[in-house]
Amino acid sequence: MSFPQRRLRRLRRTPTLRRMVAETRLSPDDLIAPLFVREGITEPQPITSIPGVMQHTLGSLRAEVADLVGLGVPGVILFGVPETKDDIGSGAWNPDGIVQIALRELRDTFGDRVVLMADLCLDEYTTHGHCGVLDGHGSVDNDATLDLYANVAIAQATAGADIVAPSGMMDGAVAAIRDALDEEDFIETAIMAYSAKYASALYGPFRDAVDVTIKDGGDRKGYQQDPANARESLEEIRQDILEGADIAMVKPAMSYLDIIARARQEVDIPMAAYHVSGEYAMVKAAAERGWIDGDAVAIEQLTSIRRAGADMVLTYFARDVAELLND
Ligand code: PBG
Repeated sequence: MSFPQRRLRRLRRTPTLRRMVAETRLSPDDLIAPLFVREGITEPQPITSIPGVMQHTLGSLRAEVADLVGLGVPGVILFGVPETKDDIGSGAWNPDGIVQIALRELRDTFGDRVVLMADLCLDEYTTHGHCGVLDGHGSVDNDATLDLYANVAIAQATAGADIVAPSGMMDGAVAAIRDALDEEDFIETAIMAYSAKYASALYGPFRDAVDVTIKDGGDRKGYQQDPANARESLEEIRQDILEGADIAMVKPAMSYLDIIARARQEVDIPMAAYHVSGEYAMVKAAAERGWIDGDAVAIEQLTSIRRAGADMVLTYFARDVAELLND
């Protein structure tokens, strides 16, 4: 008598067998491209620390979105780089601010063929680089910031955003934005909340991309989460869902796969993960030295994020990986 031997290798023998039994699939449908649009430039500017990614002009932005749509990427999220900043970040809700102009143009050009999202925050627009307004002691004033987020949400929805994405980690932001949108009859405008967003050292290249330096060598630890905490993320996500979030996000992705997996078990709304600028830059830098196969690592990382439970991934690899998947 011998036990039938179960050989797990049998189903790994050929690419076709492996494809048939794959538990997780990665498709261009899962990707969202973060795009930067800069006011007052006539040529797109490369971002050194996010190789292959540009600060776009309105024209090059349109061309990029056309390519992404052609590759089957359903959504883009816009970040603005304004020419001038002030204390309260008023450029963020200026109807003629660069993101609002870009949203109108892209909506005109592409109609509903692309899901237009806008990052909803103040840091790109404030002189001090924080995600909200400062109180008399120099710390971020939560409730005063909520009123300004409401202004930004209305400006972005008016300009044609399908989805606004609050990334500032202020308590009550989702509720404030939902109320403001509903009051102005933007009942169809959805909210993708940066719900579990950590105070990560992986955002450095992004801050180069949007010309943000936090005043006095400061940081965002007073409002973004401590990497030591996991349960707190579940509280953040549950709270955002109660406040009306349509999609919940975890950010960054690779160091927080446990958070994605736990959240996936607890909540049933769509979940996004943000593979952030530092994660992208690390892959690009090692690949440039010939130390890793950058394309293969990109696919492996994005597949892992999907396997952990994210339905969609915001990633600077969107275009390259969509090209690879289309081959
Ligand atoms: C805030 C915002 C940041 C990122 C997305 N939205 C920066 C921050 O919180 O400091 C980072 C994205 C990345 O690193 O790719 N507007």
